[in-house]
Amino acid sequence: MQILVTGGLGFIGSHTVVELIHRGYQPVIIDNLSNSNIEVLQGIKNIVGEIDLPFEQIDLKDKLAVTNFFNTYTDIKGVIHFAASKAVGESVQNPLMYYDNNLTSLIYILQNIVSKKDMKFIFSSSCTVYGQAEVMPITEISPRQKPVSPYGNTKTIAEDIINDTAMATDLQAILLRYFNPIGAHSSAEIGELPLGVPQNLVPFITQTAIGIREELSVFGNDYPTPDGTCVRDYIHVMDLAEAHVVALERLLNKKVSQKVEVFNVGTGKGTSVLEIIQTFEKITGQKLNYKYAARREGDTAIAYADTTKVNETLGWKATRTLEEALSSAWNWQENQKQHTI
Ligand code: WQD
Repeated sequence: MQILVTGGLGFIGSHTVVELIHRGYQPVIIDNLSNSNIEVLQGIKNIVGEIDLPFEQIDLKDKLAVTNFFNTYTDIKGVIHFAASKAVGESVQNPLMYYDNNLTSLIYILQNIVSKKDMKFIFSSSCTVYGQAEVMPITEISPRQKPVSPYGNTKTIAEDIINDTAMATDLQAILLRYFNPIGAHSSAEIGELPLGVPQNLVPFITQTAIGIREELSVFGNDYPTPDGTCVRDYIHVMDLAEAHVVALERLLNKKVSQKVEVFNVGTGKGTSVLEIIQTFEKITGQKLNYKYAARREGDTAIAYADTTKVNETLGWKATRTLEEALSSAWNWQENQKQHTI
């Protein structure tokens, strides 16, 4: 069964492609390579074997290209839509690029699939739609608040576009609100490949440990948390990939209870920046060079998921430990062919 994976050469997309293949699906990848690397395709094949894995380099803002794609690939039964720009800081500098890229591409995909019978749609959303949630852990009925960045706002608006479209058409969708994906496939053939200076914590840690970066700055140690540093819900990217396949099968088996379902996808456990550093030092046996620095604009103090709904309704639970996630990230960093400078 053919499943379109947009952004399929990206961090979460590539790991989901591997999981789809392992579960017997035939992914078709669209990626515009704006924030990923064509070598990821070979990395996926090094894991799953030299199978037929269609890849189309398409910018989803090209309306004609998107229409031509769906006229060519007429057996697509589901879409997992990852493709989007996702750097919080960059979105503050360039909001129009984010609204254009993340929303235009979504609209063109939806326009092409709503007329297709029984098409299933899974959307890559984010816990950022909760802003700084008042109550921990965060449930799916925690109020969405205006996110602190245009990036986060594109996720909120996208969810509304999907909800309104589903109410007016046959579209059935599942929105997965991720917490903090980290780690890499155990083979170290694919992983997180931030272009330029990493925005996210874990790739910055592994690049510091391997010597690409001088020193990690810990953005603030005066938060209202046990050790003063921010708390997040770090989920192994392979656990997250598996959640996508479980969600797809929920849609395919028509198990959904409403046209659009929302799930928080996390471990349900909060971990501070300092605990991440200490765990990383423990598993690698090496001291990490870091210093405390000023808070980062837009950061929330604490965010971790209530996983009751995703465990009980979706029937999925994270199984990998933080240690496994961090050691897989380190293994990936050590095995990368060219270091990203
Ligand atoms: C985690 C913690 C930082 C870098 C973002 C997006 C979210 C999702 C995941 C896409 C924070 C601290 C970080 C550094 C640091 N992205 N940190 N030094 O901001 O929780 O979430 O990425 O879907 O939507 O908002 O993740 O990894 O950037 O930061 O101290 O060099 O690490 O302050 O407390 P974040 P992050």
